[in-house]
Amino acid sequence: MAEAPSPSISRRLPPGEATDRWTGARHGLPQAYRPADLIVLGIGVMIGAGIFSIAGRQAATMAGPGVILSFMIAGITSLLVAFCFAELSSALPTSGSAYTFTYVIFGEVWAWIVGWALLMELLLATAVVARAWSLYAAQMLTDLGVRMPGPLAGFTGQVKGFDLFALFILVALTAVVALGARVGLRTLWIIVIAKLLAIGAVIVVGATHFDQKNLSTIPVPAAPAGTAEDTLHSPLLGILFGQTSAFGWFGIFAASAVIAFAYIGFDVVATAAEESEDAPRSIPRGIIRGLVIATVIYIAVALVMVGMTSYDKIDSNAPLANAFRQAGDGFMVHIINIGAVLGLTTVVLVLLVGLTRVLFSMARDGLIPRQLARLNRSYHSPTRVTLFIGGVAILLAEFVPVLTLEPLVVIGALFVFIAVACGVIRMRRTMPDLPRGFRVPFSPGVPIASILACLWLLVNLQVITWLYFIAWMAFGVLVYLVYGRRHSVLSGIRPPGGALVAEVRGRHRR
Ligand code: ALA
Repeated sequence: MAEAPSPSISRRLPPGEATDRWTGARHGLPQAYRPADLIVLGIGVMIGAGIFSIAGRQAATMAGPGVILSFMIAGITSLLVAFCFAELSSALPTSGSAYTFTYVIFGEVWAWIVGWALLMELLLATAVVARAWSLYAAQMLTDLGVRMPGPLAGFTGQVKGFDLFALFILVALTAVVALGARVGLRTLWIIVIAKLLAIGAVIVVGATHFDQKNLSTIPVPAAPAGTAEDTLHSPLLGILFGQTSAFGWFGIFAASAVIAFAYIGFDVVATAAEESEDAPRSIPRGIIRGLVIATVIYIAVALVMVGMTSYDKIDSNAPLANAFRQAGDGFMVHIINIGAVLGLTTVVLVLLVGLTRVLFSMARDGLIPRQLARLNRSYHSPTRVTLFIGGVAILLAEFVPVLTLEPLVVIGALFVFIAVACGVIRMRRTMPDLPRGFRVPFSPGVPIASILACLWLLVNLQVITWLYFIAWMAFGVLVYLVYGRRHSVLSGIRPPGGALVAEVRGRHRR
């Protein structure tokens, strides 16, 4: 007779099960990353659409020159959260990142919920950035005088609808990830260096066009019109505490919530833990150093952008390129186009890597079909899960108007960040002796500050973003009830838990 399943509400992954890589118990991925690679991974995934597109749009429509403050607010929030990620990934260096931390600390149900939010964050971000890549690639070709042949012109560089460039980048990078992290890593180093050179040029040349007057043009706060449509698109804060407005402090905070998109990716570094040398020390350093470098770059670029052009003349679609165009510097327009195409390439690449690692962990735990956790014998990489999720990202990018859904990426990330900060507080109490390669300073002060900062950004996101998020999470709970709860490796159903864990161990032993 089949055993009764253990109640999923109380099922927790033992820390040893999560991290037993040294005995080979659960580990299957080969080590690929040295400490320096992790910083490159972080910069590779962070610097992208956030700085090349979203920053300018927020400056033009929400924050004016105050966008510099928005970058600082989102940056400080990310740094607080990064400390929390650093501690948990140093104690539980696994490819599931926040999903696995939650599994060990809070149990299976919360793990699934956090994993589901993490999947939304990474999957949607992949599709959004692939689409942004297409826009920049088309712009680059146009600026170089290359014309697409007639029938193709309507299928490249499109904001929505079928797009060949988005398809191309997703197919190419899914193939790179499927062939194993090492192949991708070499490419990553070269592209990240090229992207940093382009960004460096923006900062240095942009500084020569800097005009103090542009910073002192402070926009007057403008109240929204108050229609039902406006209500859906105004920050939740407006509903909770009364009227908000574009520009002024409300605008700066609303922009910082959207701009948090630019920082997304420092958390992805944690998914590389199982494949990193000396993970308990190298992962925390990689997360924090990459984030500090990206923050400095963002603030410098934002300063140059609003210093070069008056906020009301910033072009929402191609802010940096147009700032240089207005300054009569055509050469820099090409540099920015190339920098953006390269920059967005590495963002998609690393997002795909992170996505596959989280899914791989969920499949290994049986919460999604376990066949997806099988490694390819030649490349030692989770090829199946990569092809599967690459396919889903392509469908999403091609058939959903993802460019309007950027804030959903942020809401998913902030939800995950809060779970991680709560995890630090809880794990200090429940597992005080678990070895940690890094400890959050001033705990629980820093984790509590992280939670409050994330909550503040969350209430500054639009009502419609909240509604979409609630719908996605409700769907996730349904999926868990129908599938994950019964197929979990810890469920003890088919076959009884211990045997299944042993079977999984055997399969992934190197
Ligand atoms: N932070 C990444 C970007 O801005 C997702 O593109």
